[in-house]
Amino acid sequence: MRKKIIAGNWKMNKTLSEARALCTEIQSGLAGGLPENTISILCVPGLYLLPVKELIGNTSSLFVGAQNSAAFTDGAFTGETSATQLAAASIPYVIIGHSERRSLFGDTDEVIKTKIDLALEAGITPIFCCGEPKEIREAGTHESLVKSQVEAAILHLDASSIKKVVIAYEPVWAIGTGLTASSQQAQDMHAFIRSLLLKVYGKETADSISILYGGSVKASNAKELFEMPDVDGGLVGGASLQAAEFLGIIQCA
Ligand code: 13P
Repeated sequence: MRKKIIAGNWKMNKTLSEARALCTEIQSGLAGGLPENTISILCVPGLYLLPVKELIGNTSSLFVGAQNSAAFTDGAFTGETSATQLAAASIPYVIIGHSERRSLFGDTDEVIKTKIDLALEAGITPIFCCGEPKEIREAGTHESLVKSQVEAAILHLDASSIKKVVIAYEPVWAIGTGLTASSQQAQDMHAFIRSLLLKVYGKETADSISILYGGSVKASNAKELFEMPDVDGGLVGGASLQAAEFLGIIQCA
């Protein structure tokens, strides 16, 4: 049975002491355990990866993740952090292809494919993000855009590698806007993405891959989203910055 995953993307928020406090509050809220077959990942700013990892310690249900990794292995790339460096620091997850990276930092499909390959080579699980902007949704061509993003970034992988990928569908129009995709819109796109996996890798593999929904997930709408058969959890931005709200979302898994 594929895992349910509730990942928080803290983006560029919090000071170090606030990050520690938030992590500690989340941990104590999870002391009674997570829902069955569910894990949570805190994707924190790079500066906080090690302190948060140290606070979390060794658990099988709460993990730390990075928000990006470089498209290069090592060398003269000022300001970048490679997947190899993350792996050597025992960071198990990295978000790749977030829409903010695509729109603000020039991450093209080709760059994202390279980052995915390097993360997998390093032994890190990539959380691959895809999703359409508002005008594409309005034009009704959202499936073909997401198909092209998925094809470009991950469908070249072999069956054993694709099983290590987590996918996050994040419609750009729902990110940070308070506008959530309806549970049916999320389900339709998730089922579509799974059908793309099915065609290349077969049913067993397609059924084993977790597909998360991201875009204004809150404790008040998470249950309805996570109840959909192809929605395997969430990638949560704003609501992951408040412990009570994030814990409420985890309980909906
Ligand atoms: P919000 O939950 O703030 O809409 O952000 C979603 C997101 O970008 C997660 O990666």
